Amino acid sequence: MKVFITGGAGFIGSHIAEEYLLKDHNVTVYDNFSTGKMDNLQFATTNDRLKITEGDIRDYPLLEQAIAGHDLIFHQAAIASVQQSIDNPRATFEVNAGGTLNVLESARKHKAKKVIFACSAAIFGDHPELPKSEVSPVKPISPYGADKYISETYLRLYSELYGIPTVALRYFNVFGPRQDPSSPYSGVISIFTTRIKANQPVTVFGDGDQYRDFIFVKDVVQANMLAAEKNSTGFENYNVGYGKATSLNDLLEMLKQIYDKEISVKYDKPRQGDIRESVSNNRKLSDELGFLPRFTVKEGLEELTRSL
Ligand code: UD1
Repeated sequence: MKVFITGGAGFIGSHIAEEYLLKDHNVTVYDNFSTGKMDNLQFATTNDRLKITEGDIRDYPLLEQAIAGHDLIFHQAAIASVQQSIDNPRATFEVNAGGTLNVLESARKHKAKKVIFACSAAIFGDHPELPKSEVSPVKPISPYGADKYISETYLRLYSELYGIPTVALRYFNVFGPRQDPSSPYSGVISIFTTRIKANQPVTVFGDGDQYRDFIFVKDVVQANMLAAEKNSTGFENYNVGYGKATSLNDLLEMLKQIYDKEISVKYDKPRQGDIRESVSNNRKLSDELGFLPRFTVKEGLEELTRSL
């Protein structure tokens, strides 16, 4: 298989690249290195099955040329910051929605076998139905969520109009090694683990009883590979979470055990626009793709902290 990964030098993309290289496939990473890092691909710098192309998904001619000859396209590139999408919706639209259209059009032109897309639980917004299944109402509350939903809609259209098999994986709260902790809007686990390791206090926005569905990055890779392997012809979407709720207070308790030290926690007022609760119903993912998470949240945290 020839595998093409947009955003392949980023957090999740680099893990997908790593797993396919371990299985001796040829992998092309396409990344503009705005947030992706060469360091994330350190495990493979001497592997001649890895090709790295520096390029932007907004650059259609370059992207289209780079995609030629690949079977499987994993589209992970995006501006992942919700806040950035609120501050600058046109710029993020060009990347997050326009970029997806460029990927799909390139895949159509070169008759790729399948396109698998990193969608997001952000498409659900603050609609109260829980847990979220694939038929739960979609109501994005940020340009980021809207861009992801527009992208998913284009995936469906490209399969219906042009016959390209497409899959949208709606990621819940992904965590693991190589997640960048540097922005205040980085994933909470990357922030907490980095600060605890450095003996710095952590801030909880709200009472800490808000919960999320945290899923370890290697299980997200598993979901991507299962989606790639399934003999599907049309469009499918799947919610991708661990399938259980973990509150921030639960998380801090686990981290306290793992680090075996007291953690200094400051409780502050809730973050504006925060959703209180989010959890995935993994039924479709497990029934149709045979997904079974291999890492509990605690096991994922243990592996993450070992890597830091
Ligand atoms: C996540 C995604 C976002 C997506 C949303 C959709 C990340 C980084 N963000 O946001 O792209 O739109 O899911 O469901 O994956 N918190 C603290 N202290 C901190 C940092 C965060 O208390 O230092 C809190 C937040 O206020 C929030 C919770 O931790 O209540 C989780 O925050 P975060 O990791 O940013 O994820 P989401 O808000 O779920």
